[in-house]
This record gives sequence, C-alpha cells and structure tokens, in this order.
Amino acid sequence: MEVMEKKEQLYEGKAKKVFATEDETLCIVSYKDDATAFNGLKKGTIAGKGVVNNRMSNMLMQLLEKKGVPTHFVKELSERDTLVRKVKIVPLEVIIRNVSAGSFAKRYGVPEGIVFEKPTIEFSYKCDALDDPLLNSYHALALKLATEEEIETIKQYAFKVNEVLKEYFLHLGVRLIDFKLEFGRLPDGTIVLADEISPDTCRFWDAQTGEKLDKDRFRRDMGGVEAAYQEIFKRVTGE
Ligand code: TMP
Repeated sequence: MEVMEKKEQLYEGKAKKVFATEDETLCIVSYKDDATAFNGLKKGTIAGKGVVNNRMSNMLMQLLEKKGVPTHFVKELSERDTLVRKVKIVPLEVIIRNVSAGSFAKRYGVPEGIVFEKPTIEFSYKCDALDDPLLNSYHALALKLATEEEIETIKQYAFKVNEVLKEYFLHLGVRLIDFKLEFGRLPDGTIVLADEISPDTCRFWDAQTGEKLDKDRFRRDMGGVEAAYQEIFKRVTGE
C-alpha cells in the first residue's frame, strides 16, 4: 500500500478528527487529547490520551479480527493516526455490561459492583441533540436506524467482543465492567465494528484493588486521570 496522507477533514468529533484520503473507501482517524463528559457539558484535556486510545484501540481491533469480529481497522499510521475503512455509522450506541456501574446503577437505584449472571445489552440512539436516549430494538426498527438483520448481527458481535475482551483483560489483572461499541456499514452493507475501544469507552477496574483505570476518573473529578490511562496502556502493550 502506498503512503496514505490526510486530505480534507470530513468530520470533527469530541475526541477524534476524520480525514479523507486519496482512496475514497478509506479514511484517516486522528485521536485528540480533548475529553468531554455529559454530552460535552464537561470539557477538558487528558495529556497523552490520543496516543493511548489510538494504539490501544488498534491492538484490540486486531485481536477481535482474529477472533472473527470484522472491524474498520486497516493500519496504524502514527501514534495518533490510523487508516480505517470508511463506513456509515449505524446511529446506535451499543452498551454491554458485566457489572453494575454508571447510568445502570443510577437508573435502577442499585450500588455499583453487582456482578451480573449474564451480560446485558442496551442501545442508545446516537443523537447529541436528544442526549443519546435509551431505546430498544423495536424503537430502533421503528426509527429505521437499522434493519432487523443488522440488529441481530450487531448483538452477536457485541457479545462476542465481550467474551474476547473480558478474558483478555482478566489476564492483565483488569475487570471489564462495561463498554460502548459503535458499528458501521461498508458500501456493500457489511456490518463492521467501528469507532474505538479505549478507556474513554470502557470501564476498567483493577482486579486486585478495584482502582478505576478509565474515564470515570475524569467524569467524577477523581484525579490521577493521566496516570490511569498510562497504567491501562502499560498493561495492554507491556510498555
Ligand atoms: P453509562 O454507565 O454512563 O451508561 O456508560 C456505559 C459505558 O459506555 C461506559 O463504559 C462508558 C461508555 N460510554 C461512552 O463510551 N460514551 C458515552 O457517551 C457514555 C454515556 C458512555
């Protein structure tokens, strides 16, 4: 593959920018250190986050590919930039939970840390203007956000991702509490895992100490945010 360069910026999100390339089927994603929470109400910077999220997400996507989950990943170009297959994002945030935390604990009035017998899945409608409202698969169908077949595929892949990552992180002394995935459609309609898998989009608790090694430290003003990102990065990369 010849050297890929960024052309025009297609999109800027809260944590990443997306650029066109000379190949219209590929884009370059560029990870920023910008951090937001509560739909952008809280803003800040986490030094080095872009590097951690880019490299960690790429390692996990490659692991998932090997385990049979197709992803958008093509090639890591630099510490912050990655070449990915261009997709149309399915406007659903897909959340898998193994242990109660965050909005689940709040919504149902239970403490954090309850281990579920089976993982749960939920969807939110990816729409900042509406604050990403929770919805079920019937709502998603009614709103034509995805087809029945696509939703079935997405569910299967999401639970597979959970099986693979839960075990992977446990070997690193980390409990995978919950996470959010996004999927995209290739031009031929194939569903692939897209976006990122990182401490921004997962909850990671140290298996020994229970220490939080993810973005909750930023969301909850706990301090030690950068150190937590570096710690989870070290566990994953061995660096
Ligand atoms: P929640 O408990 O706040 O619903 O979050 C569940 C998981 O989803 C958690 O690992 C953090 C992740 N997440 C995102 O990646 N983006 C978001 O906008 C939100 C609200 C959560």
